[in-house]
Order: sequence, then structure tokens, then C-alpha cells
Amino acid sequence: MTKTPPTLDPQRLRPDFPILQTVLHDGIPLVYLDNAATSQRPNQVIQSLVDTYEKHYANVHRGIHWLADQSTDLYENAREKVRALINAGDVNQVIFTYGTTGAINLVARSWGDANVKAGDEILVTEMEHHSNLVPWHQLAQRSGAVIRHIPLTDDGRLQLDTLDSLLTERTKLVAVAHISNVLGTVNPVEKIIRRAHDAGALVLVDGAQSVPHEPVDVAAMDADFLAFSGHKMLGPSGVGCLYGKLELLEQMPPFLGGGSMIRRVKVDSFEPGDLPQRFEAGTPPIVPAIGLGTAIDYLNEVGLEKIARHEKLLAQRAHEVLHAVEGVRILGPALEHKAGIVSFTMDRIHAHDIAQLLDRHGIAIRAGHHCAMPLHKRYGINASSRASFYLYNTLEEVDKLGDALEQVKSVFKRKSTRG
Ligand SMILES: Cc1ncc(COP(=O)(O)O)c(C=O)c1O
Repeated sequence: MTKTPPTLDPQRLRPDFPILQTVLHDGIPLVYLDNAATSQRPNQVIQSLVDTYEKHYANVHRGIHWLADQSTDLYENAREKVRALINAGDVNQVIFTYGTTGAINLVARSWGDANVKAGDEILVTEMEHHSNLVPWHQLAQRSGAVIRHIPLTDDGRLQLDTLDSLLTERTKLVAVAHISNVLGTVNPVEKIIRRAHDAGALVLVDGAQSVPHEPVDVAAMDADFLAFSGHKMLGPSGVGCLYGKLELLEQMPPFLGGGSMIRRVKVDSFEPGDLPQRFEAGTPPIVPAIGLGTAIDYLNEVGLEKIARHEKLLAQRAHEVLHAVEGVRILGPALEHKAGIVSFTMDRIHAHDIAQLLDRHGIAIRAGHHCAMPLHKRYGINASSRASFYLYNTLEEVDKLGDALEQVKSVFKRKSTRG
């Protein structure tokens, strides 16, 4: 007999999240479906921030007093939790940044400026978030490199049959999202990494939408770089991580200069310090990093595999309820290729109007281009509406989305017949 994998009960988790208890106007409960933008935090994380400020706070790596030791231990302990979460071999491979954007810019400025020359190519995809596009455009402007891209299929997947012609000896780096923040597409990054490595290119994986939602193993994946944000995975804002292969990080020059990142400074020169401090100039995000460590404890306790399965169920229900609403078009691939992000358009109703009307029902979704303008252009639209799920969302909340969309449709029908 096959064992059914254990499922997650969001109702048991929801009391941990104070903000989810919010009741809006007219007694309507908040339905938070904007998790791809940022997640909410459980009490455990909030309390760890309070505890740190109340009992353990000092600057890290600088003092020789008792409090500085405590703070440094907690900060470094958080780094170890990140290492274990993504299965990095060495704790020095984890650099704390201010987010995914900070991590990608670090690679573009440090590795990119040192290694990319005029005529080299950087391969991106048509579904990237602007954070994984603009730093490469800026690098291309500085270096004379050329940006090429993997195009999208009509159903929101990467056209991987173009890889053979796109990957050449000029390709220095492939920058690819693990999961699209608009389409929810789960990209086969292992396959892309293998092909890129065969062609002599490195790969940066944008894990902003994957690390919070499913087990990610950098060793198995063989990624050269992985970037992600704390605020999308129950942690505080202001902290994110860059993972890099040790041999790459060791060769990379520092990006930001200042305190903490040096071994020695003279009036006319400096010697950079060791990893990871070499890339953590100035006072780092001490308390956010410690809070991220607590968020990782929470995610581990629930189980990332369970979370991924739960979000798949929510996405499945979202497809069902959205398909039932006349005039709704779901973007992106079939469910088997999709995580817990469902974007859609509605005939003759702008995404901003949809979001505004849903807000009246207490439902928070995102509307706009979601920092992915090239993707929207590919599908001939300026904007879409996006519902994105996390461990605390329920099937009932997804049903409410469907019911509210029916009402959005009838409001606009009334308006158009009157007009
Ligand atoms: C796929 C992806 N990459 C990068 C980012 C940027 O993350 P942050 O704003 O935390 O730096 C986001 C945020 O929405 C994202 O979804």
C-alpha cells in the first residue's frame, strides 16, 4: 500500500500570524494572497526580533564585550541555518545582503566587472523579474557585453530548444529564475545548469520564489550562485542571501568598501578580508538576519515539502475557480509545471480595477506588471492580476477569490449595460 504524504493544516498555523487575524471594514476578514510580493511573519519571528533588541543586541564582529559575543553568535548561527537550508557545503558560502536584488547586484558588480568583457554574452530569460535583468543590462553597459534571452512558449515555459543556439563560447553567465514570480512556472534549473556548464558558462539562479516554498539544494542543483530574500519566507525585510561556489567567491573582489570587509587598511591602500565578511561591508542587517534564522526554524518545523504540496493544492483550486469565471484567462503553464502563483487577466477589466474591487472583499492580490515588463509584453498585455499563496492560505480563501471575481464581473457588466 502506498503511503499518502502528510498534508499541512493551515488552520493550525494561522493563529501564529497576528496579521492574518485582521478584520477589515464591515467585519470582513483579511484574505492575504500577495505572498509573492512579501510574506507575513509568525509570532515566533516577531518575538525573536523583540528578544534580540531587548536582550542580545550589539554590533557584530567588532566588540570584545559579552553583548557583542552574544549578538555575533546569534548572527553567525543564522548564517549556519541558511547554509543548512540550502545544503551549501560551507558556511562561508552564505553572504548576507539586503535582499535578492542586493545579492544579484553584488554578483553583477563584483564577479561581472572582473570577468565580463566586450563581446561576451549574458543569457537571461523573457520571464525574469527586473531584479534579474537590470543589473545585467547595467553590466552590459559598463562592459560592452551583449544580453541574449531564452524566449517563452505561449503557455509560459522556457523554450529550451533554443539553448543549443543561444549557449556559445561567448556565454559567460546564465541568469534564470527558479520559479517565475508571474507565471508560477517552475523552471528545470538543473537541466539548464548542466547545459550551461557544458558550454563553459556559469549560472545564477534567482531563488526569490523557490527557496521560501520548496526544498532547494544548491549542491544537487550545482548552481554557481543563488539569490533569495528573507521577507518572502516569513523573515524580516532588509535581509537576503547570496550563495556562491567557494572557488568563485574567493576570486571575487569586494563590491562595497568600508568597515568589516578588510584585513588591513593603510592611508593609501587596503587588503580585503576573508569570506563572508569581505562582502558584508559596514554594519550588516544583524537583527533581520537573526529573524531570518527563526523563520527558517519555523519553515523546517512545518516542512518545506509539505508547504510545496499545500501550495500546489491551492493553485489547483485557483485554476478550478478561475476557469469557472467567464472571461478569465490564466497565464502560465499547466498545473504540473506550476508552483503556488496564479496570474490572470479578465476580459475588458483592467488588473487595477480587479485588485481594487477585490480589496472591498478584503482580498489582497497584486495587480500590474509585477516587475516583469518583458514577460507582459510577450503576451501582449500591460498588466495582470496575481494571486500567490503560502503555507497559511486555505482552500476557502481561494473560493472567496472565485466568488469575489464573479461579483467583479457583474459590477462591470452592470456598468457596461448602463453605459
Ligand atoms: C523572482 C524574483 N526575483 C527578484 C525579486 C526581488 O526581490 P527583493 O525585492 O526582495 O530584492 C523578486 C521580488 O518580487 C522576485 O519575485
